[in-house]
Amino acid sequence: MSQSNTGTFTLTDNASGESYELPVIPGTLGPSVIDVRKLYAQTGHFTYDPGFTSTGSCESGLTYIDGDVGQLLHRGYSIEDLAEKSDFMEVCHLLLNGELPTPKEKEKFVHDVTYHTMLHEQLANFYRGFRRDAHPMAIMCGVVGGLSAFYHDSTDIHDEHQRMVASFRLIAKMPTIAAMAYKYSVGQPFNYPRNDLSYAENFLYMMFAVPAEEYVISPTVARAMDRIFILHADHEQNASTSTVRLAGSSGANPFACIAAGVASLWGPAHGGANEAVLNMLQQIGHKDNIPEFIERAKDKDDPFRLMGFGHRVYKNYDPRAKVMQKSCHEVLEELNLDDPLLELAMELEKLALSDPYFVEKKLFPNVDFYSGIVLKALGFPTSMFTVLFAVARTVGWVAQWKEMIEEPGQKIGRPRQLYTGPTARDYVPLEKRG
Ligand code: CMC
Repeated sequence: MSQSNTGTFTLTDNASGESYELPVIPGTLGPSVIDVRKLYAQTGHFTYDPGFTSTGSCESGLTYIDGDVGQLLHRGYSIEDLAEKSDFMEVCHLLLNGELPTPKEKEKFVHDVTYHTMLHEQLANFYRGFRRDAHPMAIMCGVVGGLSAFYHDSTDIHDEHQRMVASFRLIAKMPTIAAMAYKYSVGQPFNYPRNDLSYAENFLYMMFAVPAEEYVISPTVARAMDRIFILHADHEQNASTSTVRLAGSSGANPFACIAAGVASLWGPAHGGANEAVLNMLQQIGHKDNIPEFIERAKDKDDPFRLMGFGHRVYKNYDPRAKVMQKSCHEVLEELNLDDPLLELAMELEKLALSDPYFVEKKLFPNVDFYSGIVLKALGFPTSMFTVLFAVARTVGWVAQWKEMIEEPGQKIGRPRQLYTGPTARDYVPLEKRG
């Protein structure tokens, strides 16, 4: 393939000698894309890119990542600025509506989201159908999917108002659903949401308050919670977001699509990594054991990987990990906690980053490396870590889903394949087989 200076690529079929012009479409930032939409019609060939390492699946104006310099922007604003100066509701407004809100817009937005925090009372019955020891992500998959059975008035994806109501409902109800999953697992009564509290405070209240005692929310904990939500709000076309888009491309209702996203997020290579990091640190147990685990991570015959290390896009430090590392120190200091796992994590990071294997493969800590330690300090059990990621990512999923539905000429997603199975053959009756 050769690139001309007219903004096209020329693809030459060496067998037939035929050449094809492929248009190049520039974005506002980052690599431009080669438009292969007419490739099959013109050449009879598909492109082949399992894992989508070189494929742009959509056009999007939400989030930009430059993995080489370690940059993450939401609608042009850096994640560092948003984590430091903004709050989660502002970031939700930004992702959904394209701009940071004015004070009046913010007040209305917070009101509109907060208005939907309660769950239909009958949904509480769902929880009783689960085993008490069910993983909360399993409960999340079920209950979020079940929302479409309760909110029929916001499932028409062609109605702009219904799309917005569904978006508010999902952002508002996820913390309630998540906290109820936790309360169910520990056998405590559910807490109804409190709309006088901020998004993060209300979540902490629903998680940790018990009717027998007054629950005092620490501003440090609430701020750290809010920052965790901001850091996980959106992340371009990752596995769960692409799952939401693909599910939504068929016209499925938003609750079903977000449930698909929750399921995809659960995997240890994606949102499940924060839980896996903490389990790994506990398994390592002591600084002296770190070299052994680093060797195992490098061994191709051992499936063990350093959880919280590496990223498909970031080939430099994950900017979210930097904010999270800072937050981790602040939280432990302000809460006067001394977690040996933090020391272990820092030693592991130091040793891994000085090992040629990790340096050459550009494997740096990602957001999940430190988030588990912060969440543990905030009082969350390990099994809730991925659930928190799901709560925060809901706005990203919803904003990406809306962007897709609102795109003129939107089509169902339907990848093709390289078939390597048997060629056509005759059916052999059972008695003639073997
Ligand atoms: N430990 C040891 N080796 C690793 C690791 C790791 N954590 N990550 C990648 N590698 C090696 C991998 O074996 C491969 O080596 P080789 O080229 O010799 O075969 C090379 O680095 C490239 O890895 P890859 O698996 O081809 O890269 P990928 O882009 O497909 O995978 C990843 C990215 C995040 C799934 C992977 O780095 C990983 O499994 N990391 C651990 C899980 C984790 O922390 N996930 C959280 C991601 S950030 C939060 C989120 O977005 O969900």
